[in-house]
Amino acid sequence: MKVLITGSSGLIGSMLVNALTDQFDIFGLDARESDNAPDVPTTIADGSDYEAMSKAFDGVDAVVHLAANAPVETPWPDVLKNNISATHNVYEAARQHRVKRVIFASSNHAVGNFEMDEPYSRIRVGDYEGLDPGGYAMVDHTAAIRPDSDYGVSKAFGEATGRYYHEHFGLEVACLRIGTVNAQNSPKGSVRTLATWLSHRDLAQLVTQCLTQPLGFEIFYGVSDNTWRFWDTDHAKNTIGYAPQDNGEDYRE
Ligand SMILES: NC(=O)c1ccc[n+]([C@@H]2O[C@H](COP(=O)([O-])OP(=O)(O)OC[C@H]3O[C@@H](n4cnc5c(N)ncnc54)[C@H](O)[C@@H]3O)[C@@H](O)[C@H]2O)c1
Repeated sequence: MKVLITGSSGLIGSMLVNALTDQFDIFGLDARESDNAPDVPTTIADGSDYEAMSKAFDGVDAVVHLAANAPVETPWPDVLKNNISATHNVYEAARQHRVKRVIFASSNHAVGNFEMDEPYSRIRVGDYEGLDPGGYAMVDHTAAIRPDSDYGVSKAFGEATGRYYHEHFGLEVACLRIGTVNAQNSPKGSVRTLATWLSHRDLAQLVTQCLTQPLGFEIFYGVSDNTWRFWDTDHAKNTIGYAPQDNGEDYRE
């Protein structure tokens, strides 16, 4: 299977190129060269430039679309160019080149404002009094879109566009509302991250399942099996067999 990873020079992109290269025929696309990904054929192009980026889609079976500005504070002009226009280009290039499947890196920030409400507002700061892990409703794939930023709005746009391309053009789409992935591959450093962490191996497994299992249009949460997580993983378990191995709680100090 020929898989194109956009954003292949970034944190998650480099990790996935490394993790998936034995199993899939991996190609990269990024606006910049990679410092640490293995040497896979890579198109250096801006995702917001349709002519330049769409050439990379020739003969591709599936796209893992990561290219974007990842910080939640990204200002609107950059969100518009790198997260919204570039994401529309990815779906359109996939349609034009008869790509079967797109895995879209959405974000927890598409539903980030649930963290203003109890019990999530308390869990995120480590105030667990009177709470049992998992003894509260998980935020799941049926939850209302509640973006917490222009960045979150761009991820909701990517999900909505994915649904449109699925329902109108038959593209298979998985949107991954990724939690917290970091270079140190550890939830240490913030109490929120104990709940929101997604380990590298769990992310690689989630993407692998999305690439290999039957799929229509789905929204999954990218989170490890953290004791205090508040995002649902049952839907991904039941639909594509996602079985996370890691738990942020094992790192609590
Ligand atoms: N790291 C996390 O915790 C996290 C959480 C939720 C969602 N995500 C999403 O996952 C994806 C990858 O995140 P990351 O942490 O690896 O970020 P990153 O910044 O390390 O990597 C993003 C890559 O995209 C490239 N890029 C940006 N705009 C581009 C454009 N217009 N054209 C071509 N390439 C472009 C950058 O050059 C960079 O290499 C992003 O879409 C991000 O929003 C990440």
